[in-house]
This record gives sequence, structure tokens and C-alpha cells, in this order.
Amino acid sequence: MPKKAYISAVSHYVPEKVLTNFDLEKMVDTSDEWIRTRTGIRERHILEPGKATSDMGAEAVKKLCQNRGIDPMEIDGIIVATVTPDMFFPSTGNLVQEKSGAKNAWSFDIAAACSGFIYSLSVAAQFIVAGTAKKIVVVGADKMSAITNYRDRNTCVLFGDAAGAVLLEPTEDENVGIMDFLLYSDGSGADFLKMKAGGSLYPASLETVANDWHFIYQDGKSVFKFAVTKMAEVSVDILEKNGLQGNDLTLFVPHQANLRIIDAAVKRLGIDYDRVMINIDRYGNTTAATIPLALSEAYLEGRLDIGDLVLFATFGGGFTWASSLLRWGIPKPDGK
Ligand code: UT7
Repeated sequence: MPKKAYISAVSHYVPEKVLTNFDLEKMVDTSDEWIRTRTGIRERHILEPGKATSDMGAEAVKKLCQNRGIDPMEIDGIIVATVTPDMFFPSTGNLVQEKSGAKNAWSFDIAAACSGFIYSLSVAAQFIVAGTAKKIVVVGADKMSAITNYRDRNTCVLFGDAAGAVLLEPTEDENVGIMDFLLYSDGSGADFLKMKAGGSLYPASLETVANDWHFIYQDGKSVFKFAVTKMAEVSVDILEKNGLQGNDLTLFVPHQANLRIIDAAVKRLGIDYDRVMINIDRYGNTTAATIPLALSEAYLEGRLDIGDLVLFATFGGGFTWASSLLRWGIPKPDGK
């Protein structure tokens, strides 16, 4: 039996401070009712000033090691998916490595916007299957508040800060492990969702700051149209490719960007809502963190047991979209 990678631990970190829809009503021309009905979001968490993406990532990694009962020194590699690195370089992976005490791990970042976690998981899994690493941590972490314009009602109601992490290890148990990935990108979508300045095209200048080019720009309607189609398609396709159907799933863990986009994928899959993990109401869109955060909460709620079939699906800036299918490999938490 060839080796597979399986998720042997999961964790998350969410900052304490909560920003509710009612708080936002006082900041921009919006309403709790608009935000809830158009997106499904009620509140989101915001990281305190002076802290960065690597601080949330490191907290998630420390918890991950506690959950698995290992020393961070045992980790071989760390991959951080993020669009809000602490700085251009060194990578946020390097900073997480240092802050979590994972001194023996190599580390790097992957930038694939909201698809970053699944992309990173696919990379980590190849190392495990090839036998070149035995313990790889995949972190999805974003401090979206750092690039959100709290004067722009089109975007500021959508995003929040969080980190989630999984540990990948090899298994020869055919009943558990990561079974498949589908990854896609289409660069013609680049202009619909982006942070324009701060890179090599528009380095920071008085002009870029004055024009708000260091904040998220999104053409919401265009992204929505693309997302509704692609997240449903990539979910159904990976099941069909593996000879499975929606009802074989124990849990669908979709990217949490908009409840209406999740609804469309759920309808296409033909599954009941009790098989879908949703926490967008409490966290908003945390970009690379949504899937590991939702997975970690689902696990803690006792919704997953050994051998259960789990589907991840996502879409986002780039455009990028992706899915992954796996069989769960961690026993339920005590008392669940
Ligand atoms: O993970 C990254 C991928 N990104 C996404 O998945 C986001 C995809 N897009 C969306 O989720 C939705 O397009 C939004 C939630 C961003 C917007 O919802 P929508 O139903 O597409 O609204 P809209 O952009 O068509 O705007 C409808 C109206 C507009 O007013 P007019 O022009 O009809 O008078 C907007 O100005 O709603 C207005 N509007 C708001 N009103 C109150 C936009 N934002 C707000 C707001 N509060 N926060």
C-alpha cells in the first residue's frame, strides 16, 4: 500500500477583540440587516495593533503540537498560506518557525489568496508521500484587518483575522488520509480582487497611499458570479472523479466568504445542511484561515470520526479555486 498523508492534528487561533455588524454601522453607511442577508456575517475578530499574522500562526502551531503531544522541535517543515505576510521577506513561515520554537523545520509561504490553504496542503502532502518529511505543519493565517479600508463599506464588512493549522504525517492505513486534490487558476481574473500597491509594480509612494491602493479592492459582483459557479463545480468534480456522491460525505468544509456562495455549492452537492460546516457568522472571511478554522471547530464539536469522508472547497483572488477530499484520521475529542 503506498504511503498517504493524513491530518494527525488540527488547531486554530482567533484574536479576542470582536467587531460586530453594529460596530460597523457606526463606522460606514451599512446595516446589520444588509450584512447578514447579503453575506451571513454577524461579527468578525480583529487582531490587536502591534501583532501580526505570524503571531496568530505561531499560537496555532503551539496548540497543534499540544494537541498531538509533540515537541515543536519534531516538526520537519512549516508552510504558511497567507496574503497578509508580516512583511515581504523574510517569509511569515520563518517567523512562525522562530515564534513557535520549531527550530528544526524549514519554512516558506504560499500566496494563493483564499485558495492558499488547499494549495499549501497539496504541497505538504507531496513531501509526505515522497517520504522526504514526516511531520509538516500547514498554517492558513491572515490579518485581513491590516489591508482593509474601514471607510469602504463594500469590503470592510466582509473580512476578519484568524489562523488555523493542521499537522500532516504519513499513514499506511487505507481508511484514512488525503485522497485527492483539484487545483485551478485563471489569471484573467487578477483585476477583480487585489491589493494594487506595495509590490514591484507600484511600490509605496505618497500617491499609492493617497489613492488607497494599499487596501483590498474587490469587484464583488464579478467575484460572486465566478465563485458561485466554480466552488460548486470543483466540489462536484472531485467527488465524481473518485466515484463518490454528495451523500457519501460526512462533512463539507467550504471556504467561508459568503453564505449565498456556500448555499449554491450545497445545492449542487445535493446534501443536507447538517453535513456542512458553517462559521462565517462569527468570523467573516478570514481568507487562508477559513478552512482550517472551520475544520478545527468541527472537530472540537465532535462532528468528525475516524474514516469519515471530508470535502474542502474554495475559490478566491487570482482567480484561484481548489478542492480536496480526505478520510478523517483523528479520534473524537474526549467526551464527544
Ligand atoms: O474570498 C474572497 C472572494 N470574495 C468573495 O467571495 C466575495 C464575493 N462577492 C460577494 O460576496 C458579494 O458580491 C458582496 C457581499 C461583496 C456584495 O453583495 P451583492 O449582493 O453583490 O451586492 P452589490 O455589490 O451588488 O451591491 C448592492 C448594493 C449597492 O447599492 P446600489 O448600487 O444598488 O445602490 C451597494 O452600494 O448594496 C450596496 N452595498 C452596501 N449597502 C450596505 C454594498 N456594500 C454595502 C454595505 N452596506 N456594506
